[in-house]
Amino acid sequence: MRFLVTAGPTREHIDEVRFLSNASSGRMGFALAQVLCRKHDVTLVAGPVSLSVPPKVDFVGVTNARQMRAEVLRRFAAQHCVMMTAAVADYRPARRLRGKRRKSAEPLTLELVPNPDILAELGRRKRAQVLIGFALESSADSLAAARRKLKEKNLDAIVLNTVEAMGAERLRGALLLADGSVETFGPLKKEALARRLERLACRLVRERS
Ligand code: CTP
Repeated sequence: MRFLVTAGPTREHIDEVRFLSNASSGRMGFALAQVLCRKHDVTLVAGPVSLSVPPKVDFVGVTNARQMRAEVLRRFAAQHCVMMTAAVADYRPARRLRGKRRKSAEPLTLELVPNPDILAELGRRKRAQVLIGFALESSADSLAAARRKLKEKNLDAIVLNTVEAMGAERLRGALLLADGSVETFGPLKKEALARRLERLACRLVRERS
């Protein structure tokens, strides 16, 4: 089977040396690529991270959300399953300045514009592909929020995890499927969750074909 996995943060540049980003380490996506590449063809589209790429994995490095969107869309039709672990920046600066911006004593307001929601776009375009998302939540109604994302983005499954998972070795959370079922897990190593997601994805792909 052919899998596409996204990983890591995106960087949205303010000028040539400064950017907006987040604390994603990329470890969940790299763990998935590592597990999946033993039996499947894997493309890993990742933002800037310092992890080594598993052998046999087709690696595509990107910097910002728009580049990630382009690389993912280009390959989408050929995939059996896409797993979107990337922490895509929701906004980018309205303008990228040339060179390095000089400081001044005045307050500075940065205008941000929304980035494309890559997973929502895949949800609109999907045919037979199995789509698995990750919902990063910090609020009390996190289960409801994950369920809403699953539905709105037209996903087959979503992994609900908490902000503590960012950069951590283990994570706890829940796996929600489009049929309404919910399984909680954790604390689980990212490698163990990756194996569980591989089993789930293979079952969903088989059921569809
Ligand atoms: N995602 C995406 N493109 C974006 C934002 C998110 O593809 N611009 C994907 C993520 O990779 C993840 C899923 O959508 O698989 C949910 O991301 P999350 O950050 O939890 O939710 P958002 O949709 O960004 O909503 P909010 O930030 O309001 O919680």
